[in-house]
Amino acid sequence: MTVHFIGAGPGAADLITVRGRDLLAASPVCLYAGSLVPSELLAHCPAGARLVNTAPMSLEDIVAEIRAAHEQGQDVARLHSGDLSIWSAMGEQLRALRELDIPYTVTPGVPSFSAAAAALEAELTLPGSCQSVVLTRTSGRASSMPEGETLAAFAATGAVLAIHLSVHVAEQVQQELTSHYGADCPAAIVWRASWPDEQLLRIRVGDIASAAQSNPLQRSALILVGATLSQQDFGNSRLYANDYDRRYRPRGDEPRFPRGTEGA
Ligand SMILES: C[S@@+](CC[C@H](N)C(=O)[O-])C[C@H]1O[C@@H](n2cnc3c(N)ncnc32)[C@H](O)[C@@H]1O
Repeated sequence: MTVHFIGAGPGAADLITVRGRDLLAASPVCLYAGSLVPSELLAHCPAGARLVNTAPMSLEDIVAEIRAAHEQGQDVARLHSGDLSIWSAMGEQLRALRELDIPYTVTPGVPSFSAAAAALEAELTLPGSCQSVVLTRTSGRASSMPEGETLAAFAATGAVLAIHLSVHVAEQVQQELTSHYGADCPAAIVWRASWPDEQLLRIRVGDIASAAQSNPLQRSALILVGATLSQQDFGNSRLYANDYDRRYRPRGDEPRFPRGTEGA
C-alpha cells in the first residue's frame, strides 16, 4: 500500500500530469483538497473509489483516513492544487507518514504561477532583464512570514515577484512595492488561472489595489510584478544565436564540443 501525493495542477482538468492521472486511476481511495482541486479530476478515479474532500478536515482526520486505507491495503491518491512544493501542507503529512512507516510517492504538478504566466503569454526571465522569479506571499492567519522574507526585501532585488495568498491585502502589497519598482512598473493580477472562469488584468504597480477591488470576492489569485511582464525591448538569448558554439550545434574551426560528442 502506498500514498501517492499528486500535484493536481492549477485548475484546468487537463493540466494534471499523465503520471498523476494514472495514479489517480489506480488508487481506490482519493483524498482531495476540494477548495482548489477541480472536481472533473475525480472522474479519473476508479468506479466505487472512496472520495474524501479534505477541505473541512484536520491533519489528524486526514492521517486517520490514510491509516484506515493502510490497514485495508488500499493505495491512496492524495491530490493537492498546483504543485506540492509550495503551500500544499504536504510536509506535515509526509512527516506523519514517516512516523507511521507508511510508504508514499510524490508526483509534481503545474504550479499556479506557471499557469498565470501562460495566461499572460509571458516569459518571466528575459535575457538582459530579469533572471529570477520569487514565489512568495504575505503573512496570513495560518502562517506568519519569517523575519527577512518581506516583499520589500525581495523587491530590492528587482526580481519578478509572484505573490500568492495576498490579493485580499492588495493595498499593502502596492504600498510595499511602489518604492522599489515605481508605480509604473508592469504588474498583473490573474484570478483562477486556467479555470474556465479565469480573469486577468494587466496593470501597473500603482493600480494593484484598485484592480484587486474589481473582483473582491475571489481570493484564488496571483499578483505578478516585474519588468518582463510586458517588455518587448529585450535582446535575443545567445542560445539560438547563429554563431554560438555549443554541444548540440558545434560552430567554428575548433568547436568547444567537436562533432560526434553531442550525446556524450
Ligand atoms: C494554498 S496556495 C497553493 C499553491 C499551489 N500549491 C501552487 O502550486 O500554486 C493557494 C494560492 O495559490 C494561488 N493560486 C492557486 N491556484 C491558482 C490559480 N488557478 N490562479 C491564480 N492563483 C492561484 C493563489 O494565490 C492562492 O491563494
